[in-house]
Amino acid sequence: MLFLQFLFVDVVLGGSITENVVQENISLYLMQISSYANQSWTQNLGSAWLDQLQTHSWDSESGTIIFLHAWSRGNFSNEEVTDMQLLLRVHFAELTLDVHQQASQLQFKYPFDIQVRLGCELHSRETTKSFLHVAFNGLNFLSFQHKSCVPSPEGETRAQKACDILNTYEATKEIAYYVMNDICPRLLLSLLEAGKMDLQRQVRPEVWLSSSPNLEPGRLLLACHVSGFYPKPIWVMWMRGAQEQLETKQGDILPHADGTWYLRVTLNVVAEEAAGLSCRVRHSSLRDQDIILYWGHGLSVILIALAVIVPLVLLIVLVLLCKKRCTYQGIP
Ligand SMILES: *[C@@H]1O[C@H](CO)[C@@H](O)[C@H](O)[C@H]1NC(C)=O
Ligand SMILES: *[C@@H]1O[C@H](CO)[C@@H](O)[C@H](O)[C@H]1NC(C)=O
Ligand SMILES: *[C@@H]1O[C@H](CO)[C@@H](O)[C@H](O)[C@H]1NC(C)=O
Repeated sequence: MLFLQFLFVDVVLGGSITENVVQENISLYLMQISSYANQSWTQNLGSAWLDQLQTHSWDSESGTIIFLHAWSRGNFSNEEVTDMQLLLRVHFAELTLDVHQQASQLQFKYPFDIQVRLGCELHSRETTKSFLHVAFNGLNFLSFQHKSCVPSPEGETRAQKACDILNTYEATKEIAYYVMNDICPRLLLSLLEAGKMDLQRQVRPEVWLSSSPNLEPGRLLLACHVSGFYPKPIWVMWMRGAQEQLETKQGDILPHADGTWYLRVTLNVVAEEAAGLSCRVRHSSLRDQDIILYWGHGLSVILIALAVIVPLVLLIVLVLLCKKRCTYQGIP
């Protein structure tokens, strides 16, 4: 059970320790997840991602690219987009056919999944590095270095066999190399340019506290919820005064549908020692003004009382006023 608490917000001026987080490396990659249920049934899912932000998806019914943002085309012309679509259609069709044909030789037992991650990474706005990784049933299977296929240790002899086959596909390797080393870096740079407004936006988090009784009697699990922030790097800590509480536990940073992020940070404390604790949030959108929320029962009781009493008093006043003035209104 979760008891939401009213908050006391204190913004401290001139916090000294803001790490201004500038993203050094950013990657653009295509993600393919292919499920092979049996000899005659395959499902291909395709998407493209700029780090953790999805930019494109693939409509396998119509064989077209879906642009998820106004800037997802970058500066690519209609011809280039049409060419990409054609390339992807051929790729999905041929790969599907090929995998089914080679499945028995490679000892792939239905059902199985193949995941492909192909893309490029930009380092400090200058050099790019490209990559192509393939996983089989969720385990590393093989990758490409320059233009040749290299089996992963986890892939065992099957990966070696798959690479032996793939290394004879000269045209496929050339195309993959071209996509990774030419199309990908160009699209990445032009997406960063076209999507600047969205990608460099700063969205302040909303912060609230809650507590739930712990499994151990006499203890409380305090939670600090930080929601709706962008970009992703953030620092959240439970504090007592200026002292960081090292038992603070940070959850995973989870995505909201609108591209912003959510984080929950908890602290397990003896109930009597909860008073005086605070949750401190540092984020680029806040500049040097960290958000600090204090855990305080006394205060929250007053706030709850106020929250109930103020509307009640207003209601009574309105009713009394209305009795005087409204009684004869509307009656002919
Ligand atoms: C960026 O990439 C370079 C080269 O791979 C690496 O040395 C560096 O640690 C990376 N920086 C970040 C912030 O991930
Ligand atoms: C193949 O798998 C699909 C999806 O699971 C199923 O609907 C279909 O009946 C299967 N076909 C055969 C021949 O097993
Ligand atoms: C598209 O953008 C990329 C990267 O910013 C640039 O190198 C390229 O010249 C641009 N192409 C056109 C046609 O404007």
